[in-house]
Amino acid sequence: MWTPQDWQVLSEHAARCRTQAISQIIDAEPDRAQRFSRSLGPLYFNFARQHIDADAMADLQQRLLASGIEAQIKALFDGERINGSEDRSVMHTALRSDFGTSDLARAAHRSAQGALAQMESLISHFRAQGITDIVSVGIGGSDLGPRLVMDALAGDTPSPFTVHFLSSADGMYLDRTIASLDPARTAVLLVSKSFNTQETLINGAVLKQWLPDSSRLYAITANSQRAVDFGISADNILPIWDWVGGRFSVWSAVSFATVLAIGMPSFREFLQGAAEMDAHFMQAPVDDNVVMWQALLSVWNRNGMHYPTQAIIPYDERLAMLPDHLQQVLMESLGKSVTESGEPCLQATSPVLMGASGNPSQHSFFQYLQQGIGTVPIDFIGVVASGHCQPQNHHFILANLLAQAQSLANGQGSADPHKRYPGNRPSTVILLEKLTPYALGMLMALYEHSVFVQSKIWGINAFDQWGVELGKQIATTLMPYVEGNALDAERLDPVTQALLQQMLNR
Ligand code: F6P
Repeated sequence: MWTPQDWQVLSEHAARCRTQAISQIIDAEPDRAQRFSRSLGPLYFNFARQHIDADAMADLQQRLLASGIEAQIKALFDGERINGSEDRSVMHTALRSDFGTSDLARAAHRSAQGALAQMESLISHFRAQGITDIVSVGIGGSDLGPRLVMDALAGDTPSPFTVHFLSSADGMYLDRTIASLDPARTAVLLVSKSFNTQETLINGAVLKQWLPDSSRLYAITANSQRAVDFGISADNILPIWDWVGGRFSVWSAVSFATVLAIGMPSFREFLQGAAEMDAHFMQAPVDDNVVMWQALLSVWNRNGMHYPTQAIIPYDERLAMLPDHLQQVLMESLGKSVTESGEPCLQATSPVLMGASGNPSQHSFFQYLQQGIGTVPIDFIGVVASGHCQPQNHHFILANLLAQAQSLANGQGSADPHKRYPGNRPSTVILLEKLTPYALGMLMALYEHSVFVQSKIWGINAFDQWGVELGKQIATTLMPYVEGNALDAERLDPVTQALLQQMLNR
């Protein structure tokens, strides 16, 4: 956790940097466009348009080292119980790489390999059974990451399976999903680490009735007893474990539906990409470490420049789900206001993360990004080689990515205030050579590790999510009233009671 002195120095750097516009900093620093860029495998990063000078960046990097980040990374990979409020290890890295030196981390890696083998044999079984459709029921981390990976990569290799994701408990969503499906040729996967998530259980109960029998009902869970109690055969359960957080579980059997869509070879390549990012994160020196650059700049924008919002804007429709996935990874992890030891945080923590695919967004919220009162630092993500055969379209997309990043940073004067672009709006550009499973694995692991580093700077636990519990508990107590029980004025909040009366028309 950074000390008051670290924060004091960061503020002083920020005060100095604010006296110059981004474009002036770029002009003043020789070769800034190159010096503030890094390449790693198929990824390229350009940080030159962040509102920070080279001295400040170098100092923050040294402070990060001095704060003990290397030992903290080792503790993560070795499976120490760093999730204090839940007393758990955090070993999603063991799902894709083998860098943990403890027996625990090695055993976790072996279990993960075993689950991959189980998935492989289940794929053969599904083929043999003539299954055509898969419904994957899950929410939060049991939905967003797998859906992103499927959207990004499906179609690269032909698959006999069509995959449908079902997350919300909204019955219309369920009805629409199954309307065109044949229950005799469909397998249903209930994906829930806890097997206690009401949305998944409500949808699961309907689908259990809809299937001809429970032989094609499967669970992916860390709580197999609850799945068995639900009526799923023990042979139809794929494991995940206590030591994988939901929002970090995309590397596990939680992605089984995605594996059915993209094929196991692609999924293994995706894991290898993440493993390369793991190795880089552990081994690269701080000034070459793209995870540390990314994390420090995010903290800088939050605590030095005081920007409350940040954005992720992919210029590739296949990555349209990336902002949704990263919202959970970032905001569920860093949306905390007490430190690991329970003291109030003295610094602002998670920004609000927003985002959507770039080209359509230019015609909706980019007006705000260009001329609105607030400044929103952006990560632009581009893919250099397209995955299609329309070169004109692709050139247009890339030109627009470049144009937005440039115009946001440099702005443009005008005698007419309505036509003035203030500029000085920071961004990072990340380029993927091609949208391969490997590059996607690297990119997603980068953001996970960045969140970890940010949490260590702020001294918060990135791996619990107590904030989601209260609403769930209250919903459980309100269910009987929504179902028609007499309203109990003694127990009900008066506004909730008025709303219930309106809903129930009484
Ligand atoms: O309610 C939040 C949450 O616990 C997320 O952290 C998690 O990804 C999601 O619900 C789903 O949880 P589960 O996989 O246990 O159903």
